Amino acid sequence: MEPESNVKRTQQLHNSIPEPLKSPGRLHDPFEWYDNKRATAPVQYDPKRDVYDVFSYDLVKNGLQNSNQLIRKNLSESHLNTPTAFSYIDTAMVWSDGPAHKAAKSQLFKYFRPSMLEGLTESIETIANQQLETATNNGPTFEFVEEFAVPVPLRVIMDVVGVPQEDHHQLLEWLETFREVMYSEYSAVGPADGAAMEDAVAYMRQLVADRSQEPKNDLISQLAAETELSYEEIGSNCFDFILAGQGTMSELLSNALYIFWNENLLGELDEYDLSVVLEEVLRYRSSLQSRARETVESVRLGETEIPSGETVILWIGAANRDPAQFDRPHEFIPDRNPDHLAFGNGPHACIGAPLARLEAPIILQTVIDQFDTITIDTETMTPKSKASKLGFEHLPVTVSA
Ligand code: HEM
Repeated sequence: MEPESNVKRTQQLHNSIPEPLKSPGRLHDPFEWYDNKRATAPVQYDPKRDVYDVFSYDLVKNGLQNSNQLIRKNLSESHLNTPTAFSYIDTAMVWSDGPAHKAAKSQLFKYFRPSMLEGLTESIETIANQQLETATNNGPTFEFVEEFAVPVPLRVIMDVVGVPQEDHHQLLEWLETFREVMYSEYSAVGPADGAAMEDAVAYMRQLVADRSQEPKNDLISQLAAETELSYEEIGSNCFDFILAGQGTMSELLSNALYIFWNENLLGELDEYDLSVVLEEVLRYRSSLQSRARETVESVRLGETEIPSGETVILWIGAANRDPAQFDRPHEFIPDRNPDHLAFGNGPHACIGAPLARLEAPIILQTVIDQFDTITIDTETMTPKSKASKLGFEHLPVTVSA
């Protein structure tokens, strides 16, 4: 018989999407569901998924900040059958809390300060232009996600970290495998899945060993030379930077293009500061709609007492449309410059936000400058299939110069 904890996790795997969101239309537009839930009660227990959902801005922010009682769960705990690959990846700060997390983040933080990233502008432009050229090689219609929004940020973050260009495809495959394995943060997986990550771990181990012997101008070399982080921590954090920096950025780029097209803004963007408009994109269609936590003791969120050992889903996407925080929350107001939660808040707040804020306007400006018209085929566009992410699997576009 399976241990009870595994049974619980398996149920969560199958039920991780709330029932009312189980359709492509709802996954694309979950906002009415958020509104109804928030208006009924900002914290609710869902017996089907066995989780507590949190919907209001104040309480989501509160939950993100409260990392003493609401913790991130270790990755390897949910993958007990495959300790090797996952226990390596688990040493990344994102999976830890408390002093271990603080010690790692305080050393890593400075490498993502805007002043450390200034030199990247030109290479980001080059990558965006090259990828656009490749995408339009076979005609004016292309798949914006697969041919542009995925490879561009991937190439940027891999260059930052120090993964050689020729290995980019391999890395993308590993990222996709890893995401499949994770499926949801609290999923149970079979033994084969962990094995699929062993090659990725061996690759990262080798890369760190090589760079510590022969440093280059990249993050791995800098971390090996300048910090007290172990080689394991450097490799696992860099793997996580690639993972965290790729998907969320792809979603931001696709959501931005979709909104600009849908709101008829494409011809008017030069009236605004694109960086400010992108903050509204992040609020309006946040790449990460939810984050999961586990209670380590009984926690009071608003009126609700959540017992110890429970899963809490903090709905960032709902918080960012909360009328108590934002006027006319369902309107896209390009110059709103909102105080959103799209990059999280508190101890785990996004370390890559300055990089995202640097690269997104450069990449999108390249697209806007290159074409007079951009049309999205809404018939064949496909939303992401997970409620925790908002974006597109497919976003077919036709452009004309
Ligand atoms: C539009 C782009 C991005 C969005 C919307 C985004 C969103 C977020 C959010 C919501 C969190 C908090 C997670 C939590 O509390 O559980 C987070 C954390 C994180 N992000 Fe980002 N992110 C983006 C880009 C990036 C980039 C480019 C990197 C590359 C380094 C990155 C690396 C990380 C890491 C390492 C963490 C974990 C920080 C920690 O645990 O202390 N992100 N991100």
